Amino acid sequence: MKNAKGNSPIPVFRSPVEMQNWARERRAEGKSIGCVPTLGALHEGHLGLIRASAKECDETIVTIFVNPLQFGPDEDLNGYPRNEDRDLSLSRDAGATAAYCPTVEGMYRDDQSTYVIEETISKVLCGRSRPSHFRGVATVVAKLLNACLPDKAYFGWKDFQQMLVIKRMVRDLDFPVEIVGCPIVREPSGLAMSSRNAYLSTEEHSSAGCLRKALDAAEKAFKAQERDPREMERVAREVIEPVKSARIDYVECRDAENLAEIDAIEKPAVLALAVFIGNTRLIDNTVMTPDKEG
Ligand code: PAJ
Repeated sequence: MKNAKGNSPIPVFRSPVEMQNWARERRAEGKSIGCVPTLGALHEGHLGLIRASAKECDETIVTIFVNPLQFGPDEDLNGYPRNEDRDLSLSRDAGATAAYCPTVEGMYRDDQSTYVIEETISKVLCGRSRPSHFRGVATVVAKLLNACLPDKAYFGWKDFQQMLVIKRMVRDLDFPVEIVGCPIVREPSGLAMSSRNAYLSTEEHSSAGCLRKALDAAEKAFKAQERDPREMERVAREVIEPVKSARIDYVECRDAENLAEIDAIEKPAVLALAVFIGNTRLIDNTVMTPDKEG
């Protein structure tokens, strides 16, 4: 799919003021704006979000910014894959009409002292092993929304906890934007697409198949009327534990709306997992929704 301008490059903005000016002009013309925040290194998962936005909004801004604030000290900030030209042309082909690619200096002043901290949903699951991660995510997403002034912003269910944190931030701070969740895009093997899959060796790549297999096993138990979240976790762990090079960070079944602990699956629940395959940490999840009769 091409945008209205065919093969011509899309405009790229580097500072919040330039981005806001463009967005204000589009809004003054009565255009709706969708925003798709990314770290770049785009794959089909990201492109699905861009296509969803292009379908629903007149303009689609893809943001590409490797946000230092959300990487821990021992994480892959410096090694994170970057290829702006490729990302821009993929974005355009998927229907983006503008890109916001700020510089680190333009985003964060040396004396920045204001941050967005969500205090409940952020504390569990990935928040335990990545303590300042969601503070970095919430702060950057707040800044990206303030620069792009979108009507809607698109996030993938793959990062389920991130989407809940952003929804809560938008609700609690009255951001005038609708957060739209989009389904997980998977490789043919079932592995959820991720820029970090590129770090996996061929052998690790096949071991990584255990994440989806673990979710499959739990979904099967759920279909057979299992409603005990601890049993879901056990079934999933049982698939992952024997796999060579796999080390579980967490496997947890929680309330899908707010990640609260649950003792029984009586309303939508998420089974979320984070697993190291070698040195690469991968996440995946599935949402299980009981029928009314339960
Ligand atoms: P990034 O990992 O680049 O992901 C950008 C968006 O793409 C997120 O909403 C993520 O959930 C979605 N996504 C990634 N892989 C997906 C897949 N396989 N299927 C569906 N959606 C997928 O998440 C971030 O960047 C950052 O934390 C960000 C929100 C941009 C803030 O810096």
